[in-house]
Amino acid sequence: MKFFVDTADTKDIAELAETGLIDGVTTNPSLIAKSGRPFAEVIKEICGLVPGPVSAEVVAIDTEGMVSEGRKLARIAENVAVKLPLTWDGLKACRTLSDEGTAVNVTLCFSANQALLAAKAGAAFISPFIGRLDDINVDGMELISDIRQIYDNYLFDTEILAASIRTPNHVKLCALAGADVATMPPSVIKALANHPLTDKGLEAFLADAKKAGIKV
Ligand code: G3P
Repeated sequence: MKFFVDTADTKDIAELAETGLIDGVTTNPSLIAKSGRPFAEVIKEICGLVPGPVSAEVVAIDTEGMVSEGRKLARIAENVAVKLPLTWDGLKACRTLSDEGTAVNVTLCFSANQALLAAKAGAAFISPFIGRLDDINVDGMELISDIRQIYDNYLFDTEILAASIRTPNHVKLCALAGADVATMPPSVIKALANHPLTDKGLEAFLADAKKAGIKV
């Protein structure tokens, strides 16, 4: 499973990229706004920090506007993936930009039928939002499993990019359900390595090593 970081904070991205565990980045207008920096400048910088896809989202809501903004975003760097909302206009723009060779990430997906449409429109990625479904008492993980089955039934190569991930357990369940990518806030990625028994075990090993005077 690929790991994307869901943030526009370049300091966090640079720090995580150093681990060699990060395959790409996702942003959205809310995250860009939080960075407080100009859109194109921050996307360009992020594209230089990771080799993989960097999702940059349009703000137009009509097909023509989305296509024009998408072309502009795609020119920022080769690894930009244009993020479009899952609306009829977004699906039409997805078809046009995908046919031009631009990777499109169709976002704000909350149903299996929406995911089916995105695959048919040529999307490189579909972004189902797990946490926001859980928030309204709907099982977000069931959506990931349903999309996996549908895409496998018809051999669609659109990648399932599980988004709105809030906890390490979401990550495990996404991996079990066969999501291709999980995009996570930096805090969730960092939490994946934590286990109290690891800390306890290490403490005991180091204490024994010190007592015995072990040097490597
Ligand atoms: O990748 C989408 C993500 O940024 C949304 O997360 O926690 O606002 O639902 P959240």
